[in-house]
Amino acid sequence: MKGLKTCFKQKDKSIIRAVDGVDIEIAPGEVHGLVGESGCGKSVLSLSILRLISPPGFISGGEIVWEGNDLLRLDNNDMRKIRGKEIAMIFQNPQASLNPLYTVSQQMTAVIRLHRKISKKEAKEEAVRLLKMVQLPDAEKRMKSYPHELSGGMCQRVMIAMAISLQPKMIIADEPTSSLDVTIGAQILNLLIELRRQFNISILLISHDMGAVSRICSKISVMYLGRILETGNKTDIFQNPQHPYTQALLDAGKIPVHSHPAKSENNLIKGDIPGSMDIPSGCRFHTRCPSVFEKCYNMEPELKTLTANGIKVACHLYE
Ligand SMILES: Nc1ncnc2c1ncn2[C@@H]1O[C@H](COP(=O)(O)OP(=O)(O)OP(=O)(O)O)[C@@H](O)[C@H]1O
Ligand SMILES: [Mg+2]
Repeated sequence: MKGLKTCFKQKDKSIIRAVDGVDIEIAPGEVHGLVGESGCGKSVLSLSILRLISPPGFISGGEIVWEGNDLLRLDNNDMRKIRGKEIAMIFQNPQASLNPLYTVSQQMTAVIRLHRKISKKEAKEEAVRLLKMVQLPDAEKRMKSYPHELSGGMCQRVMIAMAISLQPKMIIADEPTSSLDVTIGAQILNLLIELRRQFNISILLISHDMGAVSRICSKISVMYLGRILETGNKTDIFQNPQHPYTQALLDAGKIPVHSHPAKSENNLIKGDIPGSMDIPSGCRFHTRCPSVFEKCYNMEPELKTLTANGIKVACHLYE
C-alpha cells in the first residue's frame, strides 16, 4: 500500500479521515502484524485492501499494488476474482460472519463451488478435508451443524477452512482471536502459522495483543490515527522501538481495546486520544508525545528508513 487514504463523509459534510496515507509492504509468506489503539483505522484499512468500503466511505487516494497491479484500478469483475481467491479475510466475530441459516456443509460447498467446477459430492469431500486440516473435531459430523451449534473457536476454524479453500496467497485476519478465550485463541494463531508454513500464505494480522504479535509476526507496523508511525522487523522493533508511541505501546504490553478519551487514567499514554474527525496538525501524535518539540506542531514527519537498523519511522527526532 502506498499513500492509501480512506474517508467517510458525515451528514454534516465533514470528513473522517480513517486511513490517512498508509504505507505498508508485505512480502510473500510474511506474517505482518498491524497494531494500534481502537479507532486508529485498522479495520477500515483491511476492508479497503479488498475494496469492501461502502458509502458514505470511499477510498480517496493511494495505491494497493498486488503482484504488480493496482487493485484500485481493477474493474469490479477482476476485483471479484482477487477477493477470496487471492486475498481472503477472516474476522473478529466468526459466529456473526457465518450465515446462521445454513449448515457448515452448505456454506463451505457453496464457497468451494463458486470458484471451482466440481460436483456437490466432490465439494463436500473437499470441505471435510479442509475442516480436518484446520483440526475441527468430528469434521464429518460438524458438516451438518448450524453455526449456533458450534463454539466460537469451532466457528473460527470453519471460517479459516473457508478462507483457505480457494488457496489464497494472502489472508487478512482482523482480530481473529479477540472473541475467543486465551487457549483457543493461541490454538487459532498456531493454526494460521502452520498454514503459512505449508502454503507460504502471507498473513496480515491485526491485533491488540502485543504478545501474540511478537510470537507469530516477522514484521510489524504501528498505526496511529490513520497513519503508520513505525514499521520494520519484529525483533528490531521489540528490542529497540524508535517512535515514542511504539515505546509507550510496548511499555503497556497490551493495547487497551476501548480507550475512551474521557477516562485518561485508562489510556496508556497521557492525554486524550484525538478522534479521526480532528487529527492534530503536524505530527498527529504530538498532543500526547513525551518528546514533543517545536517542529512537531506544524510539520508532519514522513516515514523514513533509519540506516542503523532498517526500521522506518515517522518522527522528527530521527531527522
Ligand atoms: N461506516 C463508518 N462511518 C463513519 N466512520 C467510520 C465508519 N467505519 C469506521 N469509521 C471511523 O473510522 C475510524 C477507524 O475505524 P476502524 O474500525 O478502522 O478502527 P480500528 O482500528 O479497527 O478499531 P478497533 O481496534 O476498535 O477495531 C474510526 O474513527 C471510525 O469511527
Ligand atoms: Mg477494528
